[in-house]
Amino acid sequence: MRRIAKHHIEHYHEHGYAIVEGFLNADELSGARGELRDILPGWVEYCDDPTRPKPPDWDRSGGPGNVFGHRFPFPGTFLNAITMHPELVEFAHRAAGGSELFCEQSHLHFKCKGHPADQDQVMHCDYGNHTLAYPPNLPAYWQTAYLLYYTDVTEAHAPTAVCSRQHYPERILWPARYQRERRPELYDNEHRIVVPAGSLFIYSMRTFHRGTPFHADVGRLGQFITYAPAAWRWLGIVGWSAYAIKREFRDWIEQATPAQREMLGFPPPGHSYWTAETLDGVSARYRNMDMTPYRDACSRDG
Ligand SMILES: [Fe+2]
Repeated sequence: MRRIAKHHIEHYHEHGYAIVEGFLNADELSGARGELRDILPGWVEYCDDPTRPKPPDWDRSGGPGNVFGHRFPFPGTFLNAITMHPELVEFAHRAAGGSELFCEQSHLHFKCKGHPADQDQVMHCDYGNHTLAYPPNLPAYWQTAYLLYYTDVTEAHAPTAVCSRQHYPERILWPARYQRERRPELYDNEHRIVVPAGSLFIYSMRTFHRGTPFHADVGRLGQFITYAPAAWRWLGIVGWSAYAIKREFRDWIEQATPAQREMLGFPPPGHSYWTAETLDGVSARYRNMDMTPYRDACSRDG
């Protein structure tokens, strides 16, 4: 049975977002949390039990500008597998009208009361740093953003607030951010995402939402994962090549499938990129990579 069910999809199209409680199964959630204990020492423990001391680096920024080490690929297998979870890929693929996809983002998001990310944000759409252009209301250009929660979110845990698209029917979504005084209806109609660990928030670049502040000395841990149609070079929050120099990245590339590599923009088997020179060059760079699918497609093409 699908975890992102028909009623979630209908809600997404009607309101611009969907919430899937308990998206991760018990194995995925505990596996991911085990990896997070190593990557972010003390955070899972503190988020689960705020009577414990805060993590040693609790006030260090974890935003998009400072995610080296907190960005895909992660040490271990669960967080990487969740990044390319078939249901996340499938939903984004359908939302984008069946387009080929590109995983433009997978990074950890962690914060607690007093952390730099503990902010009462204004209502905004995320396209400011996900596209150079403007997100039209056309599936071929539709990016899908996911926020997965690895610890419980109560009213005190800075729940993400989201507003149904019913409240912003305008044709052009610009400005992409509004103070409360300018568009009070966006705030008055916000829904706060209070969910247990393992739940999923799905939204788009055309969805108004915001971060809310903590109301207690607690923390929470999550992961942003975003997919975009691969064809358009003006979309995307990162260029993966900047991280390909890391050993973890090479390890992941070597063991991934061609389809998974393609999600990061890697040339697929059969692409005109593949020649005797590039087959040997890529193989030299990624020594443990199975080049068979690329070589076979090349020899089939003559
Ligand atoms: Fe946002």
